[in-house]
Amino acid sequence: MILVTGGAGFIGANFILDWCADGDEPIVNLDKLTYAGNLGNLASLKDDPRHLFARADIGDRPRVESLLREHRPRAVLNFAAESHVDRSIHGPADFIATNLVGTFTLLDAVRGYWSTLDEPERSRFRFLHVSTDEVYGSLGPGDPPFSETTAYAPNSPYAASKAGSDHLIRAYHHTYGLPTLTTNCSNNYGPRQFPEKLIPLVIHNAVAGKPLPVYGDGLQIRDWLYVGDHCAAIRAVLERGRPGETYNVGGSAEQTNLEVVRTVCRILSDLKRGRDYAAQITFVKDRAGHDRRYAIDATKIRRELRWTPAETFESGLERTVRWYLDNEAWLDAVTSKEYQRWITLNYTAVPSTA
Ligand code: NAD
Ligand code: DAU
Repeated sequence: MILVTGGAGFIGANFILDWCADGDEPIVNLDKLTYAGNLGNLASLKDDPRHLFARADIGDRPRVESLLREHRPRAVLNFAAESHVDRSIHGPADFIATNLVGTFTLLDAVRGYWSTLDEPERSRFRFLHVSTDEVYGSLGPGDPPFSETTAYAPNSPYAASKAGSDHLIRAYHHTYGLPTLTTNCSNNYGPRQFPEKLIPLVIHNAVAGKPLPVYGDGLQIRDWLYVGDHCAAIRAVLERGRPGETYNVGGSAEQTNLEVVRTVCRILSDLKRGRDYAAQITFVKDRAGHDRRYAIDATKIRRELRWTPAETFESGLERTVRWYLDNEAWLDAVTSKEYQRWITLNYTAVPSTA
C-alpha cells in the first residue's frame, strides 16, 4: 500500500491511473479537493477497491496520523500543492499554508509513523516529494541547464514555497535519517491539466474562438515533459532512487511560449481541418517577475535509474490536444464560476506593446 497526496490533481491523477494500470498494489489518495482537485479525473477507478479516497488537508495532522495508522503505507508520495505561479502572485498565503506549512506537517507526521516501524520496514520506507525546477530560478540564454547541484534562487512566491519545502525534506533526511527522495521536474503537459496553465488554456480558448493570451514578448523558454513520462520517472525514483538524493526530471524540449502556442494552433488546425487559430494570438501584460528560461539536465536520472521519456514534444502534444477535443464534458465541468472569476482577475487586460 502506498499513500499519495494531491492525487485528484493533474499529475497525481495521471500517476494513480498509470499505477493502477500497471499493478495491484492499493493506493490511498489524500486530497483536499481545492479548485484544482477533481474526482472526475479518477472516474474510471470509482468502483475499484485499489483506490481509496480520503478528503483531507496535508496540514491536518490528526487526520494525516490517523490515515497513516489505519493504512500503514510503505511509501508516501507528496504531490499536494498550490501549483499556479500567477495565483501565487495574486495571493501567496495559500501557497505558504499548503506548500510550506502543510508539507512540514505531513513530513513530521510521517516521521512519527516511520519511527514506529520495525526493521526492515523502516529502511524500506520512502517519503517522495514531488518538486519543481522553478526552485532554481531563471537561466540566461547561454547558461547550462539546471543540475541537482545548481544553487536555489526561487523568484515567485510559488517557487519560494516549494524551495522551502525541499529544504525541509533535505533536513529531515540529514537530521533524522528519514528515507526521503525529491524530484525537481520541468513543465508538464498532458490530459487532465487544469485550463489555467498555458497549454490547456490555449486549447480551450482556441476552440472557443477566444484570444490566446501570450505574456510579454512570448520568448520565455520552458522545458516541456509529457505527464506520463514524469509519472514514469517518479515510479523509477520510488523503486530505485537512493534515499536522501534529489533527481532532476525534464524532457530536453526547450520551446519559447510563442512556439508552444503556434504548435498547438497547427495541431488543432490539422485535427479539425479548421481555421487559422494562430490569428487569435494576443500579446498581454507580462507576468510580474517572469522567469525567462528553464532547462533541465536530466543526466543523473537517465544514467542512474535508466529513465528516458517515451514521448517527444510533438507526439505528446498531439495526444494532449486530441484528449481535450475528445473530453469536452471534462472541460465544461472544470470551467466553473470560480474559473471565470480567475480568468477575469488575471486577464483584465492592459494590452501589451510587444
Ligand atoms: P494541481 O494544482 O493540478 O493539483 C494539486 C492537487 O493538490 C489538487 O488535487 C488539490 O486539491 C490538492 N491539494 C492542494 N492543497 C492541498 C492540501 N492542503 N491538502 C491536500 N491536497 C491539496 O497540481 P499539479 O500540476 O498536478 O502538480 C502536482 C505537484 O507537482 C505539485 O507539487 C507541483 O509543485 C509539482 N510540479 C508540477 C509541475 C507542472 O508542470 N504542473 C511540474 C513540476 C512539478
Ligand atoms: O517548471 C515547472 C512548473 O511549470 C511547475 O512547477 C508549475 O506548477 C507549473 O504551473 C508550471 O509553471 P509555469 O509558470 O511555467 O507554467 P504556466 O503554464 O503557467 O506558464 C507557462 C509559460 O507560459 C510561462 O512562461 C508563462 C506563460 N503564459 C502562461 C499563461 C497561463 C502565457 O504566456 N500566457 C498565459 O496565459
